[in-house]
Amino acid sequence: MVGTKYGLAQAGAPKLRDAGQRKGLLVGSAVSNSQLRQPTFTKLLADQASIVVAENDMKWEMIHPEPDRFDFARADDLLSFAAQHGQKLRGHNLCWHNQMPPWFAQLATRENAADLLRRHIAEVAGHFAGRVHSWDVVNEAVNVTDGRPDGLRNSKWLQLLGPDYIGIAYRAASTADPKTLLTYNDYEIEPDGPNCDEKRKAVLRLLTWMRDEKIPIHSVGLQSHLRASTKLPSWAGLHQFLAAVEKLDLDVFVTELDVNDSELTGDVDERDEAVAKLYRDYLTNVFQHASVKAVLTWGLTDRDSWLNAPGRRHDERRLRPLPFDAALKPKPAFYAIADAMSAAPAR
Ligand code: XIL
Repeated sequence: MVGTKYGLAQAGAPKLRDAGQRKGLLVGSAVSNSQLRQPTFTKLLADQASIVVAENDMKWEMIHPEPDRFDFARADDLLSFAAQHGQKLRGHNLCWHNQMPPWFAQLATRENAADLLRRHIAEVAGHFAGRVHSWDVVNEAVNVTDGRPDGLRNSKWLQLLGPDYIGIAYRAASTADPKTLLTYNDYEIEPDGPNCDEKRKAVLRLLTWMRDEKIPIHSVGLQSHLRASTKLPSWAGLHQFLAAVEKLDLDVFVTELDVNDSELTGDVDERDEAVAKLYRDYLTNVFQHASVKAVLTWGLTDRDSWLNAPGRRHDERRLRPLPFDAALKPKPAFYAIADAMSAAPAR
């Protein structure tokens, strides 16, 4: 243990970025633009994070609001914050089925879709070239419940271009920014159970196909939106997945870690302990794999978690999924991350 809740409150919280650096791990979180205007928040972010990612500001709908207009202002704010504080920046994302600008559905056809994708990536990845640690090039391309034998999601991109859209996206990103780490990012790769076994299998099939087709890729993002329950997972399927990913010579980033505590009963302290326990257990397990090089939570404080966004819940209860509480105070989950990093083998 790095310390108890109370002991550390007196001593001042440890800095995750320093703890990570000692082990060759980057650590940080997703950030939204309005948070960059809150001095107490930015102090915390500067202290704690060695890597940041835009929660929404690099997505198509934000950065490419009209067919012939790109809006880099918000993402550039984050880039300069990161540069000022010696932090790396992740890019999220270049090709996804969600958060597309309305014009896309009206304009895109089978004939022009490949050009639209290439042009978007050339502009966006080109704008940040040399300054982005890693890009989530394609996000969430797998969805086994869509029923295709290859496990690919029946997204708009797939409907327009077939599986070729994946190669088009990665090749365009590689051309636009030859130095960035090209990443495939997806969810539900972590938990135990048959549904996630299917997902893992399909993601591995995709990654293996990319290797065979010589589609440039360097890393896999495990979103890691976890759900706390009374029992800890065995992570057996995840360990197998990570071993297979290592054979493909890909790095791994934990890209969107948070713990949904909506199924937990008990008071706030009990829920916080259970959330922390899952953080610790998950990270201890993934850090056993030397391929894991970065950990980002999806937001830094419970105040800002997407899981607490208006309209997401029907009751009054707020979730407590992140390392800091709504008053920006460290929670047991924070100490769990610090402990897991201190115990991790160096990489
Ligand atoms: C979420 C953001 O946190 C929300 O603010 C937004 O309304 C919807 O998207 N997987 C991803 C992220 O890859 O981009 C999503 O972010 C969360 C799930």
